[in-house]
Amino acid sequence: MIIKMTESRNLRHYLIAVIQGDGTGPEVVREGKKVLEAAGKKHGITFEFTDFDFGGDRFLKTGETLPESAIEELKKFKAIYLGAIGHPDVAPGILEVGILLKLRFYLDQYVNLRPVKLYPGVDCPLKDKGPEDIDFIVVRENTGGLYTGQGGVTRKGTVYEVATQVMLYDRQMVDRCLEYAFGLARQRKKEGKPGKLTLVHKTNVLVYVGDLWYRAFMEMAEKYPDIKTDYNHVDAACMWMVKNPEWYDVIVTSNMFGDIITDLGAMIQGGMGIAAGGNINPDGTSMFEPIGGSAPKYTDRNMINPLAAIEAGRMMLKHLGEEEAAKSIEDAVAFTCTKVESLGAGRMGYSTSEVGDMIAEHIGG
Ligand code: IPM
Ligand code: MN
Repeated sequence: MIIKMTESRNLRHYLIAVIQGDGTGPEVVREGKKVLEAAGKKHGITFEFTDFDFGGDRFLKTGETLPESAIEELKKFKAIYLGAIGHPDVAPGILEVGILLKLRFYLDQYVNLRPVKLYPGVDCPLKDKGPEDIDFIVVRENTGGLYTGQGGVTRKGTVYEVATQVMLYDRQMVDRCLEYAFGLARQRKKEGKPGKLTLVHKTNVLVYVGDLWYRAFMEMAEKYPDIKTDYNHVDAACMWMVKNPEWYDVIVTSNMFGDIITDLGAMIQGGMGIAAGGNINPDGTSMFEPIGGSAPKYTDRNMINPLAAIEAGRMMLKHLGEEEAAKSIEDAVAFTCTKVESLGAGRMGYSTSEVGDMIAEHIGG
């Protein structure tokens, strides 16, 4: 694994792979890069961005989603900055599986980190809840479970058709994810957060795979006596996320449950306009993305909200160890949230590029 990062006299240089992708992907990545450059300028960091054209257009031209050679190429980078995947002229599933999921699997990005934080000034659909109540982070296991493609179909097309899809986990997959989550809870505690980790699963029904997660969780908890632990069934977690989001600090959960509850999480933090995620391989190549889709109907209209992509950029800097630069983006995002009318596309009171400019200027002072 080559991580090219030169450190000389406070000047850090990062090589970043960029996949702008489909729809509004290129527009939001453009603003994200603008903001990264601004933060870089302030904090002595430079970037070299290398574009990869994977996405719907390339697939329509060449029939190729993501060749194996590209994976090898991408492994040379410590971080990938991703816009969006999903094209209206390509059948659903092809690009999602062939690009997004393939990257997560082949690069072994086993944690999907999704912060749920309500910035001041952002409209929250939960009555009587504010920024002090909504500040948690979901550690979604990202390479296992129902996403592994285990299962099959027999007697297809008959009334006796049988189909299965297996929630597959082995112990080390669970352990490495839990270890990341406990470590994160400990790190947050140092930052003044509660230092609490909640396992979300469905042990009352999934008596095999749920039990594996639960036992692994309880065993690992012994090594982290400073971290408070809790357990919620996933259905109850959906209820508490709406009713008492302040109970959460770090949530750890399996792939599909994490997929579902983080859409709920995105809504309580103000919507897809601001929700970002990081696909993390702590020892390899990680990938940062806005978690909303490619929003085809807003393509090239300068209307989409770039904040989610900007937040993804912030997460990327934090992952690279650039805490201060990440913090300056966070402060600028918080400021911008008090200026925009709404986080919805076309309703911000500003264009996509104006939002990017506002943030870059705020960082520049
Ligand atoms: C997400 C998305 C993907 C997932 C889809 C597009 C395959 O919903 O990143 O949350 O299910 O993980
Ligand atoms: Mn999802």
